[in-house]
Amino acid sequence: MKRNIYKPKIAASILSADFAILGKEVKDIDKAGADIIHIDVMDGTFVPNITIGPDVVSSIRKYTKKIFDVHLMIKNPSNYIDNFYKAGADIITIHLEAENHPIRTLEYIRSLGIKAGVSINPATTEENLKYILDYCDLILVMLVNPGFGGQKTIMSQLKKLSNIKEMIHRENKNILLEVDGGVNAKNFSSLVSAGADILVAGSSVFNAGKKMYIKNIKKLRNSWNRSDIKETF
Ligand code: DX5
Ligand code: ZN
Repeated sequence: MKRNIYKPKIAASILSADFAILGKEVKDIDKAGADIIHIDVMDGTFVPNITIGPDVVSSIRKYTKKIFDVHLMIKNPSNYIDNFYKAGADIITIHLEAENHPIRTLEYIRSLGIKAGVSINPATTEENLKYILDYCDLILVMLVNPGFGGQKTIMSQLKKLSNIKEMIHRENKNILLEVDGGVNAKNFSSLVSAGADILVAGSSVFNAGKKMYIKNIKKLRNSWNRSDIKETF
């Protein structure tokens, strides 16, 4: 079967934005052509960093109509689903490693009428997703250990990515595959080739200030070369 390749989407991670003017940054990156706004929520426990909560998400909601892709890097995310839903999330992604009962939480997210995502860390095997496939709309493959922007992609994750893509096809599931960590113009095409539908980009889009946002996003888009796509699952 020939794989269907759709135009990959760029999710701008506001972790690399200027938090002092976050609303304006969201507006500017939307205008510059980002498809999705990726919002990293960290609790200082699941990951060694603390970022933003639902009140901040709700306050930036008015600056764009684009999809809010909320990546929860927090322990026991089930306690906060309602808060992020009310704040305006369109996708809520939980970490498999942070939740005792991921199926229950994913079902709850779906019951709110938004997309349910599940993420796995670089050290987690894709086999752990086997019993989750019926309950998620998106799988987020971490290409770095979560917690910080500006890290280098762990290249072993590309194999995992293509294994998951193959699993999604084999099981005939309608699941988006997203990647996060170190995405840049050099690895963009190989990540799409390995199966990424949505690519999160923080430093590579916010790099060098507002005047570069359009150029940075174009650079990523132009680095995608359709002829690199070789898989035929
Ligand atoms: C890392 C976050 C990422 C981060 C990516 O834990 O989940 O979304 O912002 O930043 P870059 O693209 O700079 O690696
Ligand atoms: Zn993220």
